[in-house]
Amino acid sequence: MRTHFCGLVDEALIGQTVTLCGWADVARDLGGLCFIDLRDHEGIVQIVAEPDAATAGNAEVIAAAAAVGYEDCLRITGVVRARHAVNDKIRTGKVEVVATKIELLNKAEPLPFHAHENPGEDIRLKYRYLDLRTPAMQRKMRTRTRLVSALRHYLDARGFQDIETPILTKATPEGARDFLVPARMHPGEFYALPQSPQLFKQILMMAGFDRYYQIARCFRDEALRADRQLEFTQLDMEFAWVAERDVQDLTEDMIRHVFREVMDVELAAQFPRMTYAEAMRRYGSDKPDLRIALEFVDVAELVKGCEFKVFTDAADDADGRVVALRIPGGASLSRKQIDEYAAHAAKYGAKGVAYVKLDEAGAINSPIAKFFSEDAFKALLEAIGLQNGDIAFFGAGKYKTVSDFMGALRLKAGKDFNLVADGWAPLWVTDFPMFEWDEEEGRYVALHHPFTAPAVDSIEDLRANAKTAVSRGYDMVLNGNEIGGGSIRIHNSAMQSAVFELLGIGAEEAAGKFGFLLDALKYGAPPHGGIAFGIDRIAALMAGSESIRDVIAFPKTTTAQCLMTDAPSPIPDAQLAEVHVQVRPKA
Ligand code: AMO
Ligand code: AMP
Repeated sequence: MRTHFCGLVDEALIGQTVTLCGWADVARDLGGLCFIDLRDHEGIVQIVAEPDAATAGNAEVIAAAAAVGYEDCLRITGVVRARHAVNDKIRTGKVEVVATKIELLNKAEPLPFHAHENPGEDIRLKYRYLDLRTPAMQRKMRTRTRLVSALRHYLDARGFQDIETPILTKATPEGARDFLVPARMHPGEFYALPQSPQLFKQILMMAGFDRYYQIARCFRDEALRADRQLEFTQLDMEFAWVAERDVQDLTEDMIRHVFREVMDVELAAQFPRMTYAEAMRRYGSDKPDLRIALEFVDVAELVKGCEFKVFTDAADDADGRVVALRIPGGASLSRKQIDEYAAHAAKYGAKGVAYVKLDEAGAINSPIAKFFSEDAFKALLEAIGLQNGDIAFFGAGKYKTVSDFMGALRLKAGKDFNLVADGWAPLWVTDFPMFEWDEEEGRYVALHHPFTAPAVDSIEDLRANAKTAVSRGYDMVLNGNEIGGGSIRIHNSAMQSAVFELLGIGAEEAAGKFGFLLDALKYGAPPHGGIAFGIDRIAALMAGSESIRDVIAFPKTTTAQCLMTDAPSPIPDAQLAEVHVQVRPKA
């Protein structure tokens, strides 16, 4: 249908006849002279319909051009010539195409929104095909394609085998709810969609495959956020005969490779490494954004003698924490803005946040100064390093809660005060706790997943020290986003059973849910480990998008719906009966 792409017409083609296909991005009728910006996936080129220089003819072409509307689908033939007024904003800005033939392939009805305005995400998602046509979205989706292609190239060159694992399967726990599929041929039974290929990839290692990868769709029925979708894509990897550093060194090199290929960015030659404990202590997060230079100062020792009970209680609690966060220049915050910080912290569990402001003249403004002697307060401010013009926020309470809400304040302050440095800050976070105590369920839950190996020598050791045991898990973090997570796995059946037991999964339940894994571990399972990267998250970072929805062609809304197809939707009773399902009336 065409000889060239619109966005690639250049000076080398001057004097030649080209045929282009695309959409009318803009059409301007200046009366007897018309301009059309014709757009395809490569970009835009200017089309001119004008009277022929020699004959003054060309009326048919000019009439066709005058009738063109937004997003009409066109085929245009014409001659490339140099442009008088060069437009250096577009790649084809030095040339234009003088039309000799304009064919309307398909008329576009009046658009629900104009491509050059942002009509809001709901409208964009309902008419996703129009949204995806825009150059900005085309660019983002292209970035994703290049990322996946660079990853595949890297892994193919290193002997990884790409192996597909089932979508209709048995539940693999990754901490979310399962999506279930009724089994027509087995009344009352269900398949689960995989939350990840975790168990299959481990079994592939036991099956002799050595190095596996898969660009795998994962399904998790959990609350949606900017960085979470119900279905998302992992680069899933597993290696046999490895320890932590083998997995980390290769994948770190792989991430450097793809940033070089796709972004022309050279990431650090060695990613910094930080234990979970250090990350929580310094930044209040297990995925610290190291572009922000702000750090916590623990002040429990300095507040022990004060008269503020909230502080002294936390300072005296073995599981408590009192922490300060200094924000340089923060004394400019108004009362109302400070309240906004407190409201933000409240979302992360804060019951309050105390503060101290030191104005430019050195005067103190703080609701908690009254609880301290003058000397004690001075010592406190000194420890925090508070300078004139600064503010410091304080958090007191349980260690995890305080870390969470102060970590959230750190991110907000970083943004509000322009303290986020340019560039890329990757790191490894290691030495995660093996278990977390779940107050609601009254039992331990796995911080990674239940197949992660503990960093202990024996089952007895693990049982005796479950509360403090560290796992052999690791996360890769980039600019405050968890982009990958993995671990060395348990490759011993008895250890796996012991971990299930500590997680409150009895022998019978373990046999029912994971019997195949426990069996497979018994026949010479090699030591193995791996990792999975969030492709959507990496693509969003590369594309400069706030949300992974921007790099997923057809994402769900935060209310878990597809606005284009209207999924999910009711199913007729007859079809439900076939799969032996009866819907309960809404409670
Ligand atoms: P994990 O659950 O940490 O590990 O997932 C790995 C990576 O996948 C991405 N990710 C998500 N992206 C978008 N939407 C979601 N709902 C979502 N959930 C996770 C994140 C995360 O780092 N089987 C293990 C991996 C392993 O141990 O090898 C797993 O799935 O970037
Ligand atoms: P009050 O004397 O109750 O007004 O509290 C003094 C200050 O301490 C207020 O700014 C509160 O927001 C703050 N505050 C209350 N609870 C906490 C807490 N858990 N951590 C830090 N500050 C708190």
